[in-house]
Amino acid sequence: MGRIIIRGGNRLKGTIRVGGSKNAALPILGASLLCPGVTVIKDVPRLRDVDVMISLLEYLGARVSRDGHTLHIDGRDVYPLDVSEELMRRMRASNLVLGPLLGRFGRVCISQPGGCDIGSRPMDQHLKAIRKLGAAVNDRRGFIQADTVGLVGTDIHLDVPSVGATENTMMAAVLAKGVTVLRNAAREPEICDLQSFLNGMGARVAGAGTSVIRIQGVAELHPVEHVVIPDRIEAGTHMIAAAITGGDLEITNVIPEHVEPVVAKLQECGVDVSETENSVRVAVNRELQCADVKTMPYPGFPTDMQPQFISLCCLARGTSVITETIFENRYKHVPELRRMGADIRIEDRTAIVRGVLSLSGTHVATTDLRAGAALVLAGLAAENTTVIESPEHIDRGYENLEQKYRLVGAEIYRKL
Ligand code: UD1
Repeated sequence: MGRIIIRGGNRLKGTIRVGGSKNAALPILGASLLCPGVTVIKDVPRLRDVDVMISLLEYLGARVSRDGHTLHIDGRDVYPLDVSEELMRRMRASNLVLGPLLGRFGRVCISQPGGCDIGSRPMDQHLKAIRKLGAAVNDRRGFIQADTVGLVGTDIHLDVPSVGATENTMMAAVLAKGVTVLRNAAREPEICDLQSFLNGMGARVAGAGTSVIRIQGVAELHPVEHVVIPDRIEAGTHMIAAAITGGDLEITNVIPEHVEPVVAKLQECGVDVSETENSVRVAVNRELQCADVKTMPYPGFPTDMQPQFISLCCLARGTSVITETIFENRYKHVPELRRMGADIRIEDRTAIVRGVLSLSGTHVATTDLRAGAALVLAGLAAENTTVIESPEHIDRGYENLEQKYRLVGAEIYRKL
């Protein structure tokens, strides 16, 4: 709906506060289904993906009320209804109700989430894990149905450290009988936040942030109040906004350790980065230099920052080589950046970016969230006016992005 219009060229200067993490909030909202009481979750970002998750919880019988960034979720009347294709199609992360519904009710039926704009995104690791916990799983005719008379803790080894499969397994196993040991687990900070939330409810989970997570099943869980961690991808996006505009931004509500992979690459590019306990300052005092990046599971460079980093490389001196190892189809921003004058060649999963002296604004379109962020960043640095079509993709993951950038000096607004 509408379009974002940016008159580029302004250096961004000032302070931006980062909101709560979308990717931590979504599994935590899913996990609230585990508890027959009223859970309070604070610092939940106001985003389209969160709205979709709330609709899904409500469809399943939860009563949800929102006061600013605080959610009250009453899970007393939740029932494991079948989740239709319509609900699943709106957001892939809807699959995060799989573990909690199975854990609490011994039954779940969701439509297959299918592929999306950035790749095929299978569910095999989620299903392997719940099968090992003792669920009978039927994944034919477009639906995944799982039933059990009681999950039993076991050893599970994921083939790939999938974030979603790790989260679903944790949420299914917290109410299982006995001990589950999950190996080759994802180590993302959002998994640690889920562990804190679950333990606050009375679960006994240890090891999140390492590749081995141990879950001692408990008989029941109780309501909890929880504050979501800051969004490291939003923080990283603002860090690049400062760098690409030659600006100077203080980015607050950041856990510096979570953005370390991005900090390291910005420093390689010649950007000055300094940290306090909960903020990062990014300033540019010399010409940007090229840097090579390979996306990896945490603590590697995040795939969710790859599009934004490519925008930066477009304006850095020299040739940057970017390799995407997580998703097979995550270069949708490249043709659009080329239309703005970028020099980028794609070979299989690698993008070879030769820095140019300037980008030039034009009409561009976005098909996914982070590709949209990359185009906003390019537009902030480009000469002339950039018009970004379909900005609703950006609303999935950034709250008030235009307003935040306007307050630090950008000329950016939305035309409905
Ligand atoms: C999460 C994030 C997403 C991020 C991604 C990788 C949320 C809501 N979304 O997505 O923003 O880009 O992590 O950091 O937190 N895979 C399998 N089999 C499976 C599951 C995954 O092969 O059963 C593969 C995927 O195809 C992909 C890789 O594992 O190549 C990583 O996917 P995964 O970590 O599961 O991503 P999501 O949890 O969907």
